[in-house]
Amino acid sequence: MSHEHFFSRDAQSFRASPIRAFAKLINDPNVISFAGGVPNPETFPAERIAAVAEQVVRERRAIALQYGPTRGLPRLCASIAAICQSRGIECASSDVIVTTGSQQALDLIAHTFLDPGDVVAVELPTYIGGSASFFARSARLVGVQQDDEGIVPQSLREVATGEKIKLLYTIPNFQNPSGRLMTQARRAAVLEIAEEHDFLVIEDDPYGELVYVDGVDTTAMKSRDAHQRVLYLGSFSKVLAPGLRCGWMIGAKELLDRLEIAKQSADLCSGMLDQSIVDELIAGGELEPQIQRVRAFYRGKRGILIASLEEHFTDKARWTPADGGLFTFVTLRDETIDTTARVADAVARGVAYIPGGPFFIDGSGTNTMRLTFAKEGDERMREGIAILAGVFE
Ligand SMILES: Cc1ncc(COP(=O)(O)O)c(C=O)c1O
Repeated sequence: MSHEHFFSRDAQSFRASPIRAFAKLINDPNVISFAGGVPNPETFPAERIAAVAEQVVRERRAIALQYGPTRGLPRLCASIAAICQSRGIECASSDVIVTTGSQQALDLIAHTFLDPGDVVAVELPTYIGGSASFFARSARLVGVQQDDEGIVPQSLREVATGEKIKLLYTIPNFQNPSGRLMTQARRAAVLEIAEEHDFLVIEDDPYGELVYVDGVDTTAMKSRDAHQRVLYLGSFSKVLAPGLRCGWMIGAKELLDRLEIAKQSADLCSGMLDQSIVDELIAGGELEPQIQRVRAFYRGKRGILIASLEEHFTDKARWTPADGGLFTFVTLRDETIDTTARVADAVARGVAYIPGGPFFIDGSGTNTMRLTFAKEGDERMREGIAILAGVFE
């Protein structure tokens, strides 16, 4: 019997992640992988998480093992508000909803604001988990051009003039997949256009703390949000551990009140054990030194990857500097090369990457690829980039 007719209309719009398909190819330990999209487990403060988990379970079972408030553990909400203030955002703990990873915030926002056919503007390229949330509500996605300074205002203005945009989804700090940092001037321009054309902005910021160079300005777009158009999303996934499903969103009261109701029906509350662990680590002053350790861990690896690209790819490609985050994005000079078509050859030679095409909702970007420096050791990275250069000879 076919079950097809049972699916909802939205379920017909679901899109499986096109990059998961590559995971099969890249889990071989013999393959040097630049393909991952996850933090390195060596950065997880596992011993401290184990100790704090034991402590909160034994000493605070009525909180850590109980249902909790939909908006999140109150002390954690206060800590998150303080973190956001340090990113330039004016807010209080009552402006916070703790979410089950920032991915849940994306899903709740899509559920709460999108009717079928509503237009969501996304960056070219964009995070696939974001676009998947919007597709899952039968939204129509339109692409906005980026350059090395972030969203190109002219492109956003053109899209907003031709379409009634409801939401713009942007990742201004070290974007996944492009690794780009949006300039403050561009952030201001984006908000101006949002005001002119009356749409909301989702500012997704899971990478803002992963900074490897001096003098970059990661101040949140939300800090300029005089008209309360921005929903700001944060996450502990990249600085603590993504298995602690702990993220958050901040926004105007009227928006958050409705999002809270959406969250009630999604999961009542985010995992209280996860929240309790994160809360206790922050209250004990352990987050800041942990962030410093994570930065130090990735800083050197990022340096090796960029130096290897300079050695082997200067004549073949350009790439983003990866001054933060987990990725550099490589654009091959030869526009006729389709990186998707060469994955199998690369893996056969012992190296893996993620083709960039799937991150572009308009079908462009076929000559691009995303490389992470999170996974491999220094020597394997050097070796891998040399092999990769051979793939694109
Ligand atoms: C841009 C972006 N947003 C959201 C997420 C989801 O993160 P979380 O673990 O907080 O759900 C990711 C994960 O890789 C991401 O890259």
